[in-house]
Amino acid sequence: MRFTVAIDGPAAAGKGTISKQVASHFGFAHLDTGLIYRATGARVLAGENAVPAAQGLRAEDLQRDDLRTPDVAQAASKVATIPEVRNALVQFQKDFAARDGGAVLDGRDIGTVICPDADVKLFVTASDAVRVERRFLELSEKGIDVTREAVQADLKARDTRDSERQTAPLKPAADAILIDTSDMGIEEAVAVAINVVQSKWRN
Ligand code: CDP
Repeated sequence: MRFTVAIDGPAAAGKGTISKQVASHFGFAHLDTGLIYRATGARVLAGENAVPAAQGLRAEDLQRDDLRTPDVAQAASKVATIPEVRNALVQFQKDFAARDGGAVLDGRDIGTVICPDADVKLFVTASDAVRVERRFLELSEKGIDVTREAVQADLKARDTRDSERQTAPLKPAADAILIDTSDMGIEEAVAVAINVVQSKWRN
């Protein structure tokens, strides 16, 4: 059985939590595609060139504990503008999406490029202020030392770079369902997403 859920949206909109919980509710596998760009960015910060870093990515690169830092996020969004980097990472994501038993992938270009035929496409957004506050709390809880101003600058720079790049820019697929989570708690946002997936599942 194949069933693919594509979840895209700007930084810190709630995609990660929604994706994890949708996957666990339906028993699907989950891939946070941002992690593979972050792992590539981390290898570049360690001195490698971006294209060989992406081509040589290994499973253990995704286990590094510094992938959530703002420095790595910036490096990720820079390598993500390079078409050869994106090309190197496409097949792994497509294979993951096609696995037996159902898959949820979250990122920026899942509904538009990686899985244009996904069974469900969601585009998750929230206001700038809400996203800054959520990411600030998330990083602070992880013990990462940041200010709200630094988080705001990181999100703004990445959203602009991600939306304006030539290859696979951040944008909703024409057939994506928009979920604005600005005025929702995370449980409500997860429930909305589960309802949408349920309506398409085994119909
Ligand atoms: O968690 P957050 O939404 O802040 O970011 P992420 O999903 O971990 O993605 C980090 C960066 O990777 C993004 O800013 C994008 O530049 C890039 N990315 C991408 O280009 N395409 C994807 N499918 C996923 C992430």
